[in-house]
Amino acid sequence: MIKKFDSFDEYQKAYDKSVADPEGFWAEKASGFNWKKKWDKVLEWNFDEPKVEWFKGGKLNITENCLDRHLATRGDQVAFIWEPNDPSEANKSLTYKELHAEVCRFANVLKKNGVKKGDRVCLYMPMIPELAIAVLACARLGAVHSVVFAGFSASALSDRINDAKAKVVLTSDGAYRGNKNIPVKAVVDEAVKTASCVEKVIVAKRTGENVTMKDGLDVWWHEETKGISAECEAESMDSEDMLFILYTSGSTGQPKGVVHTTGGYMVYAEYSFRNVFQIGDGDVYWCTADIGWITGHTYLVYAPLLAGTTSVIFEGVPTFPDAGRFWAGIQKHKVTHFYTAPTAIRSLMASGLDFVKPYDLSSLKVLGSVGEPINEEAWHWYNDNIGNKNCPIVDTWWQTETGGILISPLAGITPLKPTCATLPLPGVQPVLVDSEGNELKGNDVEGNLCMKYPWPSIIRTLYGDHERCRQTYFSTYKGLYFTGDGCKRDHDGYYRILGRVDDVINVSGHRMGTAEVENAINEHSAVIESAVVGYPHDIKGQGIYAYVILEDFSKTEDVLRKEILDVVTKIIGPIAKPDKIQFVKGLPKTRSGKIMRRILRKVAEGDVSNLGDTSTLLDPSVVDDIKGGALVPLKV
Ligand code: PRX
Repeated sequence: MIKKFDSFDEYQKAYDKSVADPEGFWAEKASGFNWKKKWDKVLEWNFDEPKVEWFKGGKLNITENCLDRHLATRGDQVAFIWEPNDPSEANKSLTYKELHAEVCRFANVLKKNGVKKGDRVCLYMPMIPELAIAVLACARLGAVHSVVFAGFSASALSDRINDAKAKVVLTSDGAYRGNKNIPVKAVVDEAVKTASCVEKVIVAKRTGENVTMKDGLDVWWHEETKGISAECEAESMDSEDMLFILYTSGSTGQPKGVVHTTGGYMVYAEYSFRNVFQIGDGDVYWCTADIGWITGHTYLVYAPLLAGTTSVIFEGVPTFPDAGRFWAGIQKHKVTHFYTAPTAIRSLMASGLDFVKPYDLSSLKVLGSVGEPINEEAWHWYNDNIGNKNCPIVDTWWQTETGGILISPLAGITPLKPTCATLPLPGVQPVLVDSEGNELKGNDVEGNLCMKYPWPSIIRTLYGDHERCRQTYFSTYKGLYFTGDGCKRDHDGYYRILGRVDDVINVSGHRMGTAEVENAINEHSAVIESAVVGYPHDIKGQGIYAYVILEDFSKTEDVLRKEILDVVTKIIGPIAKPDKIQFVKGLPKTRSGKIMRRILRKVAEGDVSNLGDTSTLLDPSVVDDIKGGALVPLKV
């Protein structure tokens, strides 16, 4: 087990050591794991290709470290408590021993269905224990999992299945989400019609609704597991063998398959988890993220198991049956560590304290925040009403590409400052640069956030497109990994994340490429062109504002708006639906045809007083139309 830093002094010494001797620092962190063969070299890297290899030559299986190594000491300890969508349904729990058996059993099922080391398996499932079991079963065999959030549309799912060339898809009949019943299997049926790489679909039973089972393609989870052995030897993986692909949004339309590998990811997951949350024996941890996002991968499945923690998997939503659901869950399971997103906090804050007061939250020791900047008001509400001013809040900054938390307070150790991600973890070397890539030294500076040295869970490539990986992250500033975030280092040297500086927006903590949403809107037959920007939204952090040019005015504005929302839902999913749609005559384009998004952002923010220099626009008059909210004349 990785030892925690337990004072600020120790943190500072560790930080200095990690910079002076990174390889020595990480070799020590990695030494507590079960390696089938020790590594030959701790690190080889260059950010030009880029090529980063950690613990090269080492052999291991991450599931042996998540499960097998705990069996002797904590086999009967609960690994996962499952809290179903409907609180009146019984909880389920799995001890480490039981989870180990289920993972092995399902790994054997995957084998029986033709899955081998290196094959890609796509998981499109609700938050049921089978999802975590399936993730680990893939890792047990050395198959690469690609989990797709079960709110994405059939078309988005099909794109991701095809990009990864997944051989098998895992799903469920349906899903419960609040008072909704979502036909998950039907979405998969639609998606696999255009994904000829798929040979098998394994379906877990959750809602019991009627589904179509196609002969030769679809099989039931519960039937496949009957009579199957609960023993499965863990495949020996090279440290740099692929562990998973996770799709995320970028500034262009096509989603990017971020690739993480085995050894470095494992070491960084446990290291960051134990240190940031200061988790110990007997603690109960609840991360509310869906396993379809990186937070669910690292801090719901892998890190808590690596650290031997008991954690909660929650199927539902924070507002069902009412806005007290999280707080009821904390009381019920005596949760000590609670990790959620600012969006959830803001929406629960808006529901009022009557939903908080009935519950005993005294078990809590540490609160966490992730996914977007947390505003001052939400920070204080969380601190005062949930933490009772007694629980450190760890504002954890990281990304799908970083694999783990890079900048965050260590609970109870780092002096806090509301809304600040504070300081880098030892082993993480942030730099701020200006637009030319010059490093901004010292404090009280603001610039683009980059990393100048690799950490073990850094992105290795984009699946099937290494050049895109190089261009996106390693070419903007030579020799640096560019995060895409703006950031301030204040007079104390603390980091405050300011938000994305590229064409990516962060809606309710979910990353969305503006181009992705535009492409979807443009699929509507009446639309010529569109431009999408983010704007400040009280609950979601950022909302989606779409400017749309129409060519067909035969329907009313309201009908068109609704149809556009339906198209976006069909192509991406409900999370990408614009909050506002403004029909315009033209978009502010420069003579070279580039949309001046700065202007669109200002108008969307409601700040039209100073739009800056518009002289390079091809047709400056479009700005007045947009500013005035002028609508195109509608032929009714
Ligand atoms: O803009 C930053 C924001 O979320 C982006 C990463 O999104 P994603 O890959 O989906 O991962 C989210 C969960 C790790 C970042 O580029 N972000 C994430 N955490 C924070 C944050 N912004 C401010 N403060 C944070 N704590």
